[in-house]
Order: sequence, then C-alpha cells, then structure tokens
Amino acid sequence: MIQYSCSHGGVYSVNPRLVRVDFSSNINPLGISANVLRILRRNLPKLSSIYPDNEHKILKEKIISYLDGGLTYDSISIGNGATELIYNFARAFVRKQVIIPYPTFCEYELSSRKVGAKIKHVPLRDWKLDVRGILEKTRNSDAIFLCNPNNPTGLFSYHLVEKLIEEIDPSIKILIDESFIEFVDEKKHPRSFIEKINEFRNIVVLRSMTKSFGLAGLRLGYSISHPSTEKKISNNRITWNINGLAQLAGITALDNLSHLRKARKIVTTERELIHERINHNLRSFSAIKSDVNFYLIRLSHGRSRQIRDLLLRKYGILVRECSDFKGIGDKYIRVAVRTHDENSALFDSLESLDK
Ligand SMILES: Cc1ncc(COP(=O)(O)O)c(C=O)c1O
Repeated sequence: MIQYSCSHGGVYSVNPRLVRVDFSSNINPLGISANVLRILRRNLPKLSSIYPDNEHKILKEKIISYLDGGLTYDSISIGNGATELIYNFARAFVRKQVIIPYPTFCEYELSSRKVGAKIKHVPLRDWKLDVRGILEKTRNSDAIFLCNPNNPTGLFSYHLVEKLIEEIDPSIKILIDESFIEFVDEKKHPRSFIEKINEFRNIVVLRSMTKSFGLAGLRLGYSISHPSTEKKISNNRITWNINGLAQLAGITALDNLSHLRKARKIVTTERELIHERINHNLRSFSAIKSDVNFYLIRLSHGRSRQIRDLLLRKYGILVRECSDFKGIGDKYIRVAVRTHDENSALFDSLESLDK
C-alpha cells in the first residue's frame, strides 16, 4: 500500500539555517507578543517543574469571555495545537468513510486514514465549495472536514457552508476548521459557526491560537461544540496534553488583545499593497485575491518547487510550494502576509526572477 504523505511548510521543511524570512507558515506576522514573552520568562522556572492544570480551567474561562457567545466549559476542548483536535475528532467520529473537499490541509486525510477510513474526495469548483457534490457522497460517510478559510485557497461563502449544514443528514459530523478566521478581512464580515453549535449538534468548530497569537512552537488550539459532542472529543485526549507554558501563553494572550488587533490591521493593509505590487509590476507571477493572511501566487514560468528553492538559496526567503496539495499542480506557491519590510523583500526577490 502506498503511504499517504502529508507535508507542511515551516523552517524545518528545508534546511533551517538557510531561512531568513519564513513566508510558508501562516501565523501572526508579529509573532509572539512582547508581553506574553515577558510573562513566560518570569514563570519559566516555576512552570517547568510543576504539573500543568489538566482541566485547563483558566484558559477555558478566557476563551469563553473572548468568544463572548454564552459558552460553557463543557463545550470547549483544548488541544496541543488545532492539529491534536483534528486527530481527536477523527478518533471520536470517523469509522468507515469521510468526505474531504480539496485542495485543503492534509492532516484531515492523514488522521482519517490512521483510523482506517476511506476518503471520498470532492474537488472545489472554481475554488468554491461544491455543496451538491458533497451531498451526493454522504451515503456511508461518518464525517466531513471543512476548512474555512481554506488552506490554501481562502474564504468560502458563509452561505454555502450554512446550506451544507442545513441540508446534510445530522448524523454526519462536520469539522469546521476556522484556524484562520481571525485574519479574515473585517469588510467581509466573517461569521463563525460557533453561534450554531446548539442548533447543530453535529458541528465542531476548530480554532488555532498557534496562528492568531504566534505560538506555533508552544502549540495551542481549541474546539467548540455542543457538550454532548465535545465529551466524545475530550475522551480521546491524553492527560496533561497542554504544558504549563503553553497554557500561560494562551491566558496572557487573551488578556490583552491589542497584539492581535495590530496584526490584523497589518494583514489587511499589507495584503492589498503586496497584491497590487505583484500584479502591476511582475509578468511571471500573479497574486490571487485573498481575504485572509495568506495567498496563492500563480507562476507563469518554472515550477513551484524550483521557485521555492531559488528564493531560499538566493535570498533566504521560504515560501510554501503547493505541488503536494491534491489537485493544485506545480504552478502555485503560497505565501503568508507579513510586515511591510518583509513583504517588500519578497517582492524584490520575485522581481529578480521575473522574465
Ligand atoms: C487549516 C489548518 N488547520 C490547522 C492547522 C494546524 O494548526 P496548529 O498549529 O494550531 O496545530 C493548520 C496549519 O497549517 C492549518 O493550515
């Protein structure tokens, strides 16, 4: 049997010593906040040698007040990154078969294969969700993985996702991965499906603090669902799954949201600027409009892996080459929106390769 391979960006996907700026990880462009770092430093000696809170009580309290949606403790699961919760969801609900629209984040398929499920792939249509195509494949399916905003293509229409949830057999569980929703352009009025967890007990909404608060190395995520659904997810977690430093980082980050607000502003402004610059000045590269903190660049010359390697070797710039995303081909790279100077460095490096 051919082993399914699920690859990621990040500095360890290449020789880390070559990376000057990492555009391949779609995280907060400001990284971890100075305040979180200060508090972590102060608490490092104590937290390194005591067991962490296995119930994540303070962190859950902060998440509840952050989400402001009348949630209770028993509707939240905390994960070692959103990724842990993808696996806990698969262990809880995936048996025979799952539906995965593609291209998308590969951990959905990997986690489903690990529990022995068959995968029903449904291609996006013009990068939009094909609700009909999904509904046609629901027979014998236990679950669906929906990534919204989708990695790597961007935001789906809220109404299409809503239509799917309303029309599908409610015994099918739906994971809605909103790991990037905090970076969606406010003008798009992004709406979360968290508000629907009591109406639809089959949905589980996933968030990643790793991305929104720049904690990729510490690992932190959470899922929200009706308590009866949540119980089955948390039954699959290991004891002390979140270390004390990650918990404190999350608590401190949620205490002061100015860092996230600042990052969102940067993403909104910079995304427009860099798109304009690429699309008006370069012939070999076109930026695909995106409403979130990453975007695809289409290459008219060369292949994605070759361009990634050139950018890395010549400039220390790491982009995500997308040829391993099912159905995307070798003409796309994906880049995160970063700070003004970093985006300018990306532009200059692309310009030097322009034909
Ligand atoms: C859509 C999506 N969900 C989840 C994750 C993983 O998030 P975390 O780092 O919190 O595990 C990623 C990482 O790239 C992602 O693209």
